[in-house]
Amino acid sequence: MRPDCVGCDVGIGFRRPGSDNGAMRTVTPRQASSYDSLMQRLEARYFPDTRAWVCGRAGGDTLEIAVGTGLNLGHYAPDVRLTAVDVNEDVLGFARTRMRTLNRRFVIERADAAALPYTDGSFDAVVCTFALCEVPDDVAAIREALRVLRPGGSLLLADHIVSTNGLIRFGQRLLEAVTIPLGGEHFTRRPSRHLDTEPVTVEACERFAHGAIERVHARKLDIDRAAA
Ligand SMILES: C[S@@+](CC[C@H](N)C(=O)[O-])C[C@H]1O[C@@H](n2cnc3c(N)ncnc32)[C@H](O)[C@@H]1O
Repeated sequence: MRPDCVGCDVGIGFRRPGSDNGAMRTVTPRQASSYDSLMQRLEARYFPDTRAWVCGRAGGDTLEIAVGTGLNLGHYAPDVRLTAVDVNEDVLGFARTRMRTLNRRFVIERADAAALPYTDGSFDAVVCTFALCEVPDDVAAIREALRVLRPGGSLLLADHIVSTNGLIRFGQRLLEAVTIPLGGEHFTRRPSRHLDTEPVTVEACERFAHGAIERVHARKLDIDRAAA
């Protein structure tokens, strides 16, 4: 969710206006802090406890994709070994500062969600929150997340999605007419749809706020074990 795409003049646009290839733009400290405070207000109102819900289900070697300024970092259990990536080097600086404030040691590095630099089955959990609305190819990002996940591992997602309310859906389509060309922000995606054709089982899925927010815990199937 890009704040400048939800009616707030904070101008943190992570994607360069007019970019259709995911090109990123500079993010200043003021923009990062505006993003954080807007997100915290939206969270309190529309999706309270969602970061805790998602991060609390992660364990062991965990990868967070599109970490942004690191709003999830304080929600991981002390024994989680986290690697966090984002395609925008600027926002990684803010995530590293947050990590130091929290007195945690995570690996935070630049990577594209659609081409992760990790071998198959490297992680016990993969987390992605409020970012599949913005990555240029959400299907490729989900496939990559599942590729680097160990069989039996957890895919944990939360995002704003297409609403179940017709009026809100109409508004989301209008908004997208501006936000997609401006910064690649989508309001009518629903990443969990793509899980239907992937080797996963959905353990928990909750949709609320007029169906416009969804959080999902899916588990990657152990196909070899199932076949044996
Ligand atoms: C709205 S922010 C969400 C940040 C954070 N996940 C959160 O929950 O607050 C979206 C993030 O996705 C990142 N992003 C966009 N496209 C990406 C890609 N292809 N690979 C990795 N990160 C990407 C942006 O740089 C930005 O930090």
